[in-house]
Amino acid sequence: MRRKVTKAIFPVAGLGTRFLPATKSVPKEIMTLVDRPLVQYAIDEARAAGIKEFIFVTSRGKGALEDYFDHAPVLEQELRKKGKDELLSVLKNTNMESGAIAYIRQHQALGLGHAVWCARRLIGNEPFAVMLPDDVIAADKPCLQQMVEAYEETGGNMVAAMEVAPEKTSSYGVLDVKEDMGKVVSANGMVEKPKAEDAPSNLAVIGRYILSPSVMRNLQQKKKGAGGEIQLTDAIAQDIGQGEPVYGYRFDGKRFDCGSKAGFLRATVAFALAREDLRDDLMAYVNQIALNANAAE
Ligand code: UTP
Repeated sequence: MRRKVTKAIFPVAGLGTRFLPATKSVPKEIMTLVDRPLVQYAIDEARAAGIKEFIFVTSRGKGALEDYFDHAPVLEQELRKKGKDELLSVLKNTNMESGAIAYIRQHQALGLGHAVWCARRLIGNEPFAVMLPDDVIAADKPCLQQMVEAYEETGGNMVAAMEVAPEKTSSYGVLDVKEDMGKVVSANGMVEKPKAEDAPSNLAVIGRYILSPSVMRNLQQKKKGAGGEIQLTDAIAQDIGQGEPVYGYRFDGKRFDCGSKAGFLRATVAFALAREDLRDDLMAYVNQIALNANAAE
C-alpha cells in the first residue's frame, strides 16, 4: 500500500520583490484575490487533497501570515451577536486546528530547494506535497487533489506540468520528456530556467509537487544551481538517477502566476468575474473601458 500524502510544505520565505513597496510590510501570500488572501486558496486546495499537516517555511516579516490562521474570538463574538452567520462561517474556515499548522524559519533566502529542506524534520520518512501559494489554479477538481489521485497509481515524484510558449521556458523548470502518456509524462530529467534554444521541451513545472522523502536527502547536499540558488527541481531530477521516477502531471485548470503583477491582475479579474455578487457590475465596467479604448483608436 502506498503511503497517503498528509503533509504539505508551503515555502513562503521569499522576499517578494516584484510587489515592492507593498511587500515591505505585507507578505505576498496575504495579498488578496477579491477578498481572500492567496494563502487561503492554497490551504483550501490542500484540504481538498486530504492534507492534514500544514508546514509553512517563513522568514522575517511574515507575522501577518501567522496571525491570519489564528482564531479571532472578539470578531467571532461580534458577528455572532449581529447574526452575521455567513461571515462567521467564512471566518471559521480560516481557523486552523491546534497542532495542524507549523512555522519554520528559513534564515536566509537561499532558494526554493533550501526552503523545502528547512522542513525536513517535520516530514521525516514520508511522501509530502509542496505548494507555492503564488501559483493559483482555478479548477473544478482542485489541482493537488487531481495529482494525489494520479500519484496513487504512479508513486515516485510528481510535478504539476503545463505547456508554455518557447520564449517563456527561461522562467520555469522544464521537463525532459521520456514517455508521453497523455495526462502523465515520465521524465529523463529537468532543467531549471533554460533558454528557449536549450529547453528539452515546452512542458514547464509549476508550483505543485508530490515528492518522495529521498528528495530531502538530495537537498541535504545543498548543491547550488541556476542563479546560485539551491533549486528544488535539481534535487527532484537527481532522484531519477537514483531509480526514483519523476512524472509530470498535465492538470485540468487555469493557472495564474500571482507572483507577477500582470498575473495577479488577471487572476483578480477572473476570480471576480466568477463571483455572482460582483460579475455584472465588473463586466459592465470592463465593457465600458473596452468601448472607450476602441473609440479612442
Ligand atoms: P519566487 O521566485 O517567486 O521569489 O519564489 P519571491 O521572493 O517570492 O518573489 P520575487 O521574485 O522577489 O518577487 C517562489 C516561491 O519560493 C519561495 C517564495 O516564497 C515563493 O513561494 N522561496 C523562494 C522561499 O521560500 N525561499 C527562497 O529562498 C526562495
